[in-house]
Amino acid sequence: MKIVTVIGARPQFIKAAVVSRWLRETPGCEEILVHTGQHYDENMSDVFFQELEIPKPTYHLGIGSGGHGAQTGRMLEAIEKVLLECKPDKLLIYGDTNSTLAGALAAAKLHVPVAHVEAGLRSFNRKMPEEINRVVADHVSMWLFAPTAAAVHNLRNEGVAENQIFLVGDVMYDAAIYFGTRTRADTLSKLGLQSKNYVLATIHRAENTDAGPRLRGVFAGLSAIADELPVVLPLHPRTRAALNREKLLDKCSPNLRLVDPLGYLDMVMLEKHASVIATDSGGVQKEAFFHRVPCVTLRDETEWVELVELGWNRLVPPTDADTIEAGVLASLRDTKTRLAPAELYGGGQAGEAITRLLQAA
Ligand code: UD1
Ligand code: UDP
Repeated sequence: MKIVTVIGARPQFIKAAVVSRWLRETPGCEEILVHTGQHYDENMSDVFFQELEIPKPTYHLGIGSGGHGAQTGRMLEAIEKVLLECKPDKLLIYGDTNSTLAGALAAAKLHVPVAHVEAGLRSFNRKMPEEINRVVADHVSMWLFAPTAAAVHNLRNEGVAENQIFLVGDVMYDAAIYFGTRTRADTLSKLGLQSKNYVLATIHRAENTDAGPRLRGVFAGLSAIADELPVVLPLHPRTRAALNREKLLDKCSPNLRLVDPLGYLDMVMLEKHASVIATDSGGVQKEAFFHRVPCVTLRDETEWVELVELGWNRLVPPTDADTIEAGVLASLRDTKTRLAPAELYGGGQAGEAITRLLQAA
């Protein structure tokens, strides 16, 4: 089996690390790794290849940043060339980024069957670029690897054929188990933090960064919390650029620790030891649960609905600073016992299941 994998953004490196390892160990399987270059800073890309032992990509397309149309279009053209050259049996994509969409479209047009990992997630908000990407990717895919029962339900509702849907669990859970034991002794001390005495925050969604008033509200809310408890926030380059644009960097509380993006192993350490995690990231919401840390999701909706239903995740639309502060403080004070059903995200064998299913197809 010859398979081309297309990745390009931070969370995709983490997801692909899991599946690529299984593909490499499968006799008769050749994986050709294509990095679109959507993320390119050392701490948004290279660090994950090193830490998670991902092989050097066969093709690095060097696309970089740009508007949705320009970025996706450049990727589409470059991926098409790769597919014509390699003639793979299958194409593998992850999640919902512009790299996912470009990979899906390039392959579908050339009749290369597509396998989509993290299929079926929906926010039902078509204003999110990710929602467009995942709907299109799902509907041109042959194999839809769903992480949750809710994702399977969404695909059935959209009329996807039953024999194309596979509930395999979440590859990010595999990653948390496999790499989560490689702990770092000095992550907290380097940042002057004490276990279970700080809030970990991440913000990067377009809806929270692109409009000045929303961004101002989010950072005013996080600053207010930081005046009560340390808040550490590894800053996504999109968010740093937005804070610069709105001249907000100097207005944040000095207790709000804005640090550069971290590698996965440092990030996992910060997640495990946080009192509460406040985030708009999809991956970080689940990792909070994997490490049994309560989470506040600073968005209007979430795709990971099961965590809200179980009470691990509190959905707080970040309309203004007071709402954010109140939401995070309520989560800090909430001592309710929460259920953590086994296998909510599978058994940590999603990567193996995906590999076996692709090999048998
Ligand atoms: C992308 C995904 C989003 C995902 C996120 C993961 C899309 C539409 N969005 O959002 O779903 O959650 O990745 O992190 O695909 N930049 C740098 N250096 C980098 C990368 C980006 O400076 O290495 C800056 C550039 O100014 C760029 C901006 O960040 O314009 C946004 O990057 P982009 O990849 O377009 O979108 P993300 O916000 O990262
Ligand atoms: N992550 C990381 N360093 C950081 C921030 C996030 O390693 O500074 C990891 C995080 O642990 C998770 C993934 O990146 O595994 C989530 O990516 P991101 O939030 O960028 O995207 P999303 O999941 O929202 O698409």
